[in-house]
Amino acid sequence: MPLLPTDKMKSFILGTGSALPVRILTNAELETMVETSDEWISTRTGIKSRHISGAGEETSKLAGRAAAKALEMAGLTPLDLDLILVGTISSEMSMPSCACLVQKDLGAKNAFAYDLNAACCGFLYGLDMADSYLCRRPEMKIMLIGAETLSSRVDWQDRNTCVLFGDGAGACVVSGAAPGSGMLASKLHADGNLYKLLYMDSARGMNPALANARNQGAFIKMSGRDVFKYAVRTMAGSVKEVLAQTGIKKDEIKMIIPHQANRRIINSLLEHLAIPAEKAYVNMTKYGNTSAASIPIALDEANRKGLLEPGDILLLCAFGGGFTWGAAVIRW
Ligand SMILES: CC(C)(COP(=O)(O)OP(=O)(O)OC[C@H]1O[C@@H](n2cnc3c(N)ncnc32)[C@H](O)[C@@H]1OP(=O)(O)O)[C@@H](O)C(=O)NCCC(=O)NCCS
Repeated sequence: MPLLPTDKMKSFILGTGSALPVRILTNAELETMVETSDEWISTRTGIKSRHISGAGEETSKLAGRAAAKALEMAGLTPLDLDLILVGTISSEMSMPSCACLVQKDLGAKNAFAYDLNAACCGFLYGLDMADSYLCRRPEMKIMLIGAETLSSRVDWQDRNTCVLFGDGAGACVVSGAAPGSGMLASKLHADGNLYKLLYMDSARGMNPALANARNQGAFIKMSGRDVFKYAVRTMAGSVKEVLAQTGIKKDEIKMIIPHQANRRIINSLLEHLAIPAEKAYVNMTKYGNTSAASIPIALDEANRKGLLEPGDILLLCAFGGGFTWGAAVIRW
C-alpha cells in the first residue's frame, strides 16, 4: 500500500528560540536618513521599526543565541545535536558557514553543520530538509535556524529597500515524531528565471566587474511591485497545494505564520485564500522583514506567548529571492 504523506513526514518541533539585536531603528529615525515618512512606510508595509545589529551581534552570534534558547526549551544540550542547519543569505563570512560558527560557539561537537540559501524561504526549505533526514533517522536532533543581518546588505541611501529589512534570528530543535503529528506536508518551489526581480550580487572583490564600483553590486535590488504580485500568487498556490495534500480544511487551521515581508501582502494572501485575517500571526510591525529569520522568530513569539496548543494546525508559507516559495502544514 502506498504511503500517505502523513506516514512519511515526521519532523516535530521540540523547542523554539529567537534573538534580536539591541538597537531599534524607528521609521522616525529613517525620516532623517532618506526621503521617506513614517506614514508612507506604515501604510505601504505595516512596518514601524526594525532591529539593527552592532558589534557582537553578527549573524552567527544571533543564530547561536536563538539556538541556545531553543535547546533550553527542548531540555537538550549542545552535545545532543546531530545537525545544525542555518538558512541565511547574510552570514558574516562566506567560509566557514554560519552553521559551523554556531557549532563552534555552542560546542556542539557531535553535529555536522551547513548553511542553505533560499533567501526568505530558508526556514521552510530547511524544515523540508530536516524532515528528509528524520524520515531516515527519526532519532536525530536537528537545530534549524533562520538568521540574517540584512542591514549589512541594504543600500542605506535607497529608500525603496532600506526601510523594509531588519536583523534577527529564530531557531527550532526538530526531531522525529509519530506519523500524523509534526510536519504533515511541505511543498517547495523555485523559479530562477525571476531572479532579477529581487537579488543581491556578490560583495566587492568577489565579482571582478564590480571591483572599482561603490560596492553597488552587493546591495539588495528589488522591483517591489512585481515582487508583491508574485508573492501573493505563489504563496496562495503553495498553501492550496499543502491543504490539498493533507485534506485539512481552512477552518481547521489554528494559525497561519506567513513570511513577514509586508502587511499588505499578508492581507491580500488571506483575502485570496478566504482565511480570516485574525488567524495570521503578524510581527513585522516591530521587526521588518528579517528574511529567513522571520517565520522562526514569529513561531517562537507565538509559542512563548502560549498561543499554540498540542494538536493545533499551523500553516507556514514564504517567498523570497530566487524566486523561492513554498508552504508547510504542521500539527503542533
Ligand atoms: C516596496 C513596496 C512597499 C512599495 O510599495 P508600492 O505601493 O508598490 O510603491 P511603488 O514601488 O509603486 O512606489 C510608489 C512611490 O513611492 C516611492 N517610494 C518608494 N519607497 C519609498 C519610501 N521608503 N518612502 C517614500 N516614498 C517611497 C517610489 O519612489 C514611488 O514614487 P514615484 O511614484 O514618484 O515614482 C511594495 O511594492 C512591496 O512591499 N513589495 C514587496 C517587497 C518585498 O516584500 N520584498 C521582499 C520580498 S522577500
